[in-house]
Amino acid sequence: MNESERKSESNIVLALDSVPSGSKNLLSKGLEILRRVHPYICAVKLNRHFLLPLGLYDGVKRIVEEAHSLNLPVIMDCKINDIGYTNRVIAENYFNAGFDAVTANPFVGWEDGLQPVFEVAEKMNRGVILLVYMSHRASWEGYGQTIYDSETGEKKLQYIAFAEKALAWKADGAVVGGTYPEKIREVYEILKEKVPIYSPGIGVQGGEVKAAVLSGARYLIIGRAITLAERPEEAAKFYRDAAKPHGDLVSS
Ligand code: XMP
Repeated sequence: MNESERKSESNIVLALDSVPSGSKNLLSKGLEILRRVHPYICAVKLNRHFLLPLGLYDGVKRIVEEAHSLNLPVIMDCKINDIGYTNRVIAENYFNAGFDAVTANPFVGWEDGLQPVFEVAEKMNRGVILLVYMSHRASWEGYGQTIYDSETGEKKLQYIAFAEKALAWKADGAVVGGTYPEKIREVYEILKEKVPIYSPGIGVQGGEVKAAVLSGARYLIIGRAITLAERPEEAAKFYRDAAKPHGDLVSS
């Protein structure tokens, strides 16, 4: 990601989810959007929107290959969230299809949870990005609850514990919703430059570029505000430019 960010001079990760209604062919429309916006982004993130209708080793692999031919890494936002044995199979399949990183949910814990995902990622030289605080309105119900840390006897917020796990587990990224700049700032204070923060929720969900970046977000994940725009390349350029200069104004 570092290298892609440097080469593209962009910190925008395209969430290639939705295509404009009325588009006849999902795959060709997705590929068209990707080709139009690629000069303004540093990576692509896919979710279930293409995976379910197109299949992993069919249409989705085609998109991954296209992104790689444009020198863009691809993240599968599958939020891995099961027992370790199943998590390993999920991760292996996404990595075998060419994905460079997967997202995973630290709620399942390490042993027989996400440990196998980190192991397979290390073996295949891929990345694992952990959810720390999601971008939607009800995020506080889970990620914002107060928990009791049995190791230290302290009470702490769930997302603070997840940020600490992202450090301890040597995650390749931490997701904090761009809709909550104050949470980005708190998490940044823990992660500093060791684990980059990825912030979805910019644009349609109400998150703002400057607030997210100035609070410590390293990468901005943007979907509908680009893919559904009349001219996706102009929207991508707008967000790319709005996010510059990034990463140099974080203060405690
Ligand atoms: P939009 O269209 O809202 O798309 O820009 C955002 C994309 O990001 C996903 N998303 C998240 N993924 N943690 C994640 O790992 C989050 O907190 C989060 N919030 C949104 C969303 O599913 C879509 O693909």
